[in-house]
Amino acid sequence: MMNYLKEFPLRSTSAIKLYSKDDFDGMRYACQLTARCLDQIASMIKPGLPTSEIDEFVYQFGKDNGAVPATLNYRGYPYSSCISINHVVCHGFPSSKPLRNGDILNVDITFILDGWHGDSSRMYIVGNCKRAAQRLIDLTYDCLMAGIAQVKPGIRMGAIGAVIQELAEKERCSVVRDFCGHGLGKLFHDSPNVLHYGTSQDGIEMRSGMIFTIEPMINLGRHHVKILKDGWTSVTRDHSLSAQFEHSIGVTDDGCEIFTQSPSGHLKPPYPNF
Ligand code: MF3
Ligand code: CO
Ligand code: CO
Repeated sequence: MMNYLKEFPLRSTSAIKLYSKDDFDGMRYACQLTARCLDQIASMIKPGLPTSEIDEFVYQFGKDNGAVPATLNYRGYPYSSCISINHVVCHGFPSSKPLRNGDILNVDITFILDGWHGDSSRMYIVGNCKRAAQRLIDLTYDCLMAGIAQVKPGIRMGAIGAVIQELAEKERCSVVRDFCGHGLGKLFHDSPNVLHYGTSQDGIEMRSGMIFTIEPMINLGRHHVKILKDGWTSVTRDHSLSAQFEHSIGVTDDGCEIFTQSPSGHLKPPYPNF
């Protein structure tokens, strides 16, 4: 029998692009460049390093490889990366302030290569961190991968947020509501929005050829955030630690391809020494 909703999809559904095999190839190149850059950053992290040096490395790495950082001048954002330390949730500015032993940080990079956007972020640990910080990092990584494991044609987008929220709250942590994952491709931020909370009945059904990010931000304390006076830096209102991992993925016939998978096998910190 004909399914009315399938024959006449809601406008929000039809606005979501389905990408070809060649488009997937383009995304894979851009995303692997981003992943290689994130791999190399692991060997830079040490106490005393100003995070502006990471940002300069990102810019130069892009230049050497024919890519530009999508964040630079994006809606006025002034850097090649977002570097978010401890209670900073996302969109932190790289700065001259040195990293300190025990800090945890997220580095979020998007390279544009041949028009395609490769968007990914990972956590790093400076020296050794507290057990609670490591637990938050492990949980956030598990949340990302649990979300990715839901991705398959016919499953609703809400299934991603549902498993992430369930896992985070089971561990007495919280899911940031104010930022979400997003479609991407030739555009940096496109439909659909990918919520990291909610129920499995929410959202549209995934289809083969869709491309989007999953990028949960998980807080040790409450989920509320505020934006600092610089207009970008988002921090936890209760100053609790926050962590995030992000992958860019493409929906395939039987699951998904993780475009930003680390070529060095880096999953979550501590990363292997070089
Ligand atoms: N890379 C971020 C994301 O995951 C977006 C950063 S936009 C910026 O979507 F303007 F803050 F750089
Ligand atoms: Co993103
Ligand atoms: Co990102």
